[in-house]
Formats: sequence, C-alpha cells, structure tokens
Amino acid sequence: MENILVTGGAGFIGSSFVKLMLDLHPDYKIINIDVLTYAGNLETLKTVSDNPNYIFIKVDIRDREKVDEIFSTYKIDTVVNFAAESHVDRSIEEPEIFLSTNVIGTQVLLDVAKKHWKVNPEDKYCREYKSGVKFLQVSTDEVYGSLGKTGMFVETMSLMPNSPYSASKASADMVVRAYHETFGMPINITRCSNNYGPYQFPEKLIPLMINSCLKEKKLPVYGDGMQIRDWLHVSDHCTGIDTVLHKGRDGEIYNIGGNNEKANIEIVKLIIKTLGKSENLITYVKDRPGHDRRYAIDNTKITTELGWNPKYNFDQGMKDTLSWYLNNTEWIENIVSGDYTKYYEKMYANSSEKNNEIDNQK
Ligand code: NAD
Ligand code: DAU
Repeated sequence: MENILVTGGAGFIGSSFVKLMLDLHPDYKIINIDVLTYAGNLETLKTVSDNPNYIFIKVDIRDREKVDEIFSTYKIDTVVNFAAESHVDRSIEEPEIFLSTNVIGTQVLLDVAKKHWKVNPEDKYCREYKSGVKFLQVSTDEVYGSLGKTGMFVETMSLMPNSPYSASKASADMVVRAYHETFGMPINITRCSNNYGPYQFPEKLIPLMINSCLKEKKLPVYGDGMQIRDWLHVSDHCTGIDTVLHKGRDGEIYNIGGNNEKANIEIVKLIIKTLGKSENLITYVKDRPGHDRRYAIDNTKITTELGWNPKYNFDQGMKDTLSWYLNNTEWIENIVSGDYTKYYEKMYANSSEKNNEIDNQK
C-alpha cells in the first residue's frame, strides 16, 4: 500500500481520514479527489495542504476519464471511497443525485480500479490482481434499516434500507460485493454508525443544534425526539477504517461502532445544558418521512477479529466537539453559504408547520 486514492476527502469524515493517514503513515501518498459539493470544504484541510505526500484534485468520481488518468499518473493501489451525497433529508428532497453519485460513482471507481489492478484486464475470467491492492467502500449502518427496542445490527443481516440515501448506499454495497464475487476484486466494506466531531457540516443533528443554540434559534426536533442513534467520534471511525484497510480479511464487511446509543432529545438537551441555554428553544416539528427509529451497531467482529476499539468516551468527545465549535464559529459562518440557506428553505417549503417554525427563527 503506497498510493491511496481517498474520494470525498474534503467532507467531514474523509478530511479527518486524510489527516490521520498523513500522520500515521508518512510513507504513503494520499491523493484526495473531491468534486466539492456544498459539503466539501478545503478549509478543513489547510493544515495538510503543503504536505508533500498529499495531493488534492477536483474531480467527480463519475468522471471515468479523469479517474482513469489519476490511476495512471499516481499508480493508485488502494481506494477508500468516502465520496457520497450523505444527508438523509436531502435525499428525500432530491433522490436522483444520490443514486447517481453513490451508486454509479462507486461503479465507475470499481471499473477503473479493475482495469488498472487486474493482472490481465482483457481476460474476463482472470481473478488475479496485483499484489497489495484493495478497494474499501465506506458504508453506513443505515443500510440495515431500523431496529425495534432490542437487537443490534450484525454484518450478516439482510439489508432493509428505508430512505433514498440508505437505499443508494445499500445498492453501492451490493455493487462492491458483486465486483468481488464476479471479478475477484479485493474489497472490504465498512458500516459505521452516526459520527460526530469537529468540521461536520451544520445540517446534521449535532452541529445544527450547536449552531442554532449559540444563536438562540429554535431547535427543530423531528417527531417525538425519541429516535435512537449510536454515536461514534469521527476519529474513532477513521482508526476503524485504517484497521480494516490493513488487517481486514478480503471480501469481508466490518461494522464500526462504539456502543453508544442516545435518543435525539438527550443529545439536544445535553447541548443546551452545556451551552447554558434554555430548553424553551426546543421545537418539535413534523417527523422525517420514513424516519428510522433506532440504530445500534454490534461491533464484535472488528473488535475481536481485528483488535480495533474506540478511544473516545462520549461525554469527553462531546465536550471537545462543543469547544471546537465555540472556538471555530468563523468556520461555520463561512460554510453556511447561500446554497445551504436555499436548501433549508426548500426543505421546509412543503410543511406549513415547519415553515412557520423556521420563519420564526429569522
Ligand atoms: P459529507 O457529506 O461531509 O462529505 C461527502 C464528500 O463527498 C464531500 O466533500 C463532497 O464534496 C464529496 N462528493 C460528493 N459527490 C461527489 C462526487 N460525485 N465526486 C467526488 N466527490 C463527491 O459526508 P460524510 O459525513 O463525511 O460521509 C462520508 C462517507 O461516510 C459517506 O460515504 C457516508 O455515506 C459515510 N458515512 C457517514 C456517516 C456519518 O455519520 N456522517 C456514518 C457512516 C458512514
Ligand atoms: O447512521 C449513519 C448515518 O448518520 C450516515 O450514514 C449519514 O450520512 C448521516 O447523515 C447520519 O444520518 P442521520 O439521518 O442519522 O443523521 P442526521 O444528523 O440527519 O439526524 C440524526 C437524527 O436527528 C435523526 O434521527 C434525525 C434527527 N434530526 C435531524 C435534524 C437535522 C432532528 O430531529 N432534527 C434535525 O434538524
């Protein structure tokens, strides 16, 4: 492993992974390709932009020609595919881009990797690959669907995605698996739970609530706020991916999670309390259509087989995250762009209830 193509490396998790890899593995070259959608932000990477082992290229993963050129130029031997449309609410507004980027984009990367990595790319029966190559697909626990009050997601479960976003991620997982089964492509798939930490785009629950709370705006809690997510610090997700990259058995899927289930309302109240604001800011709004009730990751496979464990305890992780946002209000202001505002207006346009709440915040 020498030349790693990280896709979507200007996003929340990808940027954290790029920094971790440059730190942990000074002998690797990291080639970051990202098309810089509203969610991509090079500001997040400014501390590594001069690192001689780091290269950024603005490319759409669906652009076969450019991706092919990058494989040739940089002798790519590893792909870690983060690039995706990642926000469930946006996927309800505009499903098509999710299918296009998350499924077709992944297939283009697989195809180009196959061409460059197969010992004999012309032979469709050839299952021999150059030594040390791997395609790692960064997936999500949402592909499993929603849990009842008990039980946890295990890797062998059948997939039951409920949103256009999770359906697109599940489809991508299936395509990655198919390239392994049909063409012998060396792959791993990781499925992680909800991430939190610095540099997360403020349309996701935790940064949205922090940002709104600081401005004393209403805090829109969907439905009854009792939906449960299993939270993991972004650094722990990245060490999990690094572990699977180096130790994961070929063709295997690994869940990544830290056994940390919290109801949304608990998170919102924790933020309010830590920031010394009033719970009167909480506003219950209409529920997300098809809203998954509970996620919980069983991490036995990665912890026992590969020896990975999360480092962050949630309380400390949240304290650090909150203080990061308090010290980096400029970062948030810079990215709360016109584009984001337009999305927000559209998202609430069809619900008079939500619309009123949002109007009240202005
Ligand atoms: P993000 O939205 O912050 O970042 C996605 C990045 O992908 C952005 O930089 C964007 O510009 C880029 N991108 C989008 N379309 C592209 C395209 N066509 N070509 C090239 N780049 C493109 O997302 P994130 O939260 O960092 O998530 C990264 C990955 O991890 C996603 O695949 C997501 O499904 C998965 N994941 C996220 C979480 C989470 O809690 N955020 C949990 C588990 C898995
Ligand atoms: O589980 C992993 C997934 O976690 C990732 O695959 C996705 O990319 C990531 O976006 C995240 O999806 P969620 O839908 O769980 O995250 P989000 O931050 O959008 O919402 C978290 C919970 O909070 C969810 O139950 C919806 C709720 N919520 C969210 C927002 C933005 C609210 O109640 N109010 C809000 O304003």
